[in-house]
Amino acid sequence: MTKKYYLGIDQGTTGTTAILFDENWTLAARGYKEITQIYPRAGWVEHDAIEVWESIMSATRQAMLLVGAMPKEITCIGLDHEGETVVLWDKLTGVPVYNAIVWQDRRTARHADELSEKYADLVRNNTGLIIDSYFSATKIQWILDNVPEAGELMKKGQLLAGNMDAWLIWKMTHGKVHITDASTASRTMLFNIHKGEWDQDILDLLHIDRSVMPTICDSAMIYGYSDAMDFMGIRAPISGVMVDQQAALFGQNCITSGSVKTTYGTGCFMLMNTGDKPIYSPNGILTTVAWQLNGKCSYALDGGIYISGAATQWLRDGLKIIKSAAETEAMARQAGDNGGVYFVPSFTGLAAPYWDSYARGMMIGITGGTTQEHIVRATLESTAYQVKDVLDVMEKDSGVPITTMRCDGGAVANQFLMQFQSDILGIPLEIPEITDTTALGAAYMAAMGIGEFSSPEEVSHFWKISRYYEPRMNKDQRDSLLFNWHRAVERSQHWIL
Ligand code: G3P
Repeated sequence: MTKKYYLGIDQGTTGTTAILFDENWTLAARGYKEITQIYPRAGWVEHDAIEVWESIMSATRQAMLLVGAMPKEITCIGLDHEGETVVLWDKLTGVPVYNAIVWQDRRTARHADELSEKYADLVRNNTGLIIDSYFSATKIQWILDNVPEAGELMKKGQLLAGNMDAWLIWKMTHGKVHITDASTASRTMLFNIHKGEWDQDILDLLHIDRSVMPTICDSAMIYGYSDAMDFMGIRAPISGVMVDQQAALFGQNCITSGSVKTTYGTGCFMLMNTGDKPIYSPNGILTTVAWQLNGKCSYALDGGIYISGAATQWLRDGLKIIKSAAETEAMARQAGDNGGVYFVPSFTGLAAPYWDSYARGMMIGITGGTTQEHIVRATLESTAYQVKDVLDVMEKDSGVPITTMRCDGGAVANQFLMQFQSDILGIPLEIPEITDTTALGAAYMAAMGIGEFSSPEEVSHFWKISRYYEPRMNKDQRDSLLFNWHRAVERSQHWIL
């Protein structure tokens, strides 16, 4: 009997996950392929765009093999991706002119600072963002300025640029479709959130020809069909595209104004749905597009922290004091408390609400009595403190009290971290049944794109809670931990000269 699967592809920074959801939106199979992290210099992070393309095939193939899914059983494809990362490629040969520059890359930090001196208001007003090397714009400009071939191809009208969605959809459709969605465009620092189009003033400022940029579309619609020859025999509508954080917001059913989700991954990303109006934060939280449906944008406040799971990875691969992330829960409990140790994991600077590209990682409070367990505990605690810093500002700037937070991503399996997070925030946390909410959100969007759902409200009754955490810590203890955390953050700032 022919089955029917919705394919959600989550192209994340450290790897690609492909999930098949069955007709009842139950997770049927998952495939995963790690992506190589390339560090050519300190502060630079790149991906091989061809490897990323192959990773989506490999992860999809794995998932299909697990349940014996046939290519014709794929009903539609939804894709979410790692956000601000950019690729530039030759549209005739399909060859990237340079590695993809990853969102974490800080090579354009100084240039971003220079731009900020003159153009901070223009960029803030038009794009909702602060000028930072995190976003795609200065990364595109860097490739144009430093890779001679890129400039030449742009002059000939033979260059294409885009975030990972644009690249992967172009590859999936055998070079027929060059698009992006409004949520992705809003991460470039080139998208005018009021006009809903590329901002000509900022493009001119950075010498980026509009012709290289993809067409901006809704987050759900049929953009094109995957090419069976290029995409493992699958000819299916590609009908949902979003940035991964926005996909998680949708997958968490945060569709009403004021609802908040946090995704615990390489970094940690908090988004608050603010409905049909962009809200500006005077305190370093970004204004971004949540999704665009039928030409209308929904907006969100966005506070990302760069390092969360990546700090645990460092304990494993750098310090080598753990063998797997799973060990951290027992070690943190064993420590009893943090032993006075605070770890600010600002490996690549600090994002919201501090925005300091020159901060670097710092551990403070170490004594002769400090153990590995204290360091592990301080690492997990650092995520919770950073989330608290962002949520406090979000609440203040939106004027909407945050009474609960939905959580997803790998680290929600860590019950110590989730309890500590609830304690530090002083609010309950909700964990959904399906924690792969990014791939789920992308797949939901794709189903909307082919008309299987007519509105986000129709999707909402599929969301189910699996676990709930309530705060147990008293206020004095919370205040004291936060006081010390903030003293530590202050000391880690402006380190690089
Ligand atoms: O802004 C970058 C973010 O969207 C990347 O998320 O899950 O790939 O680390 P992730």
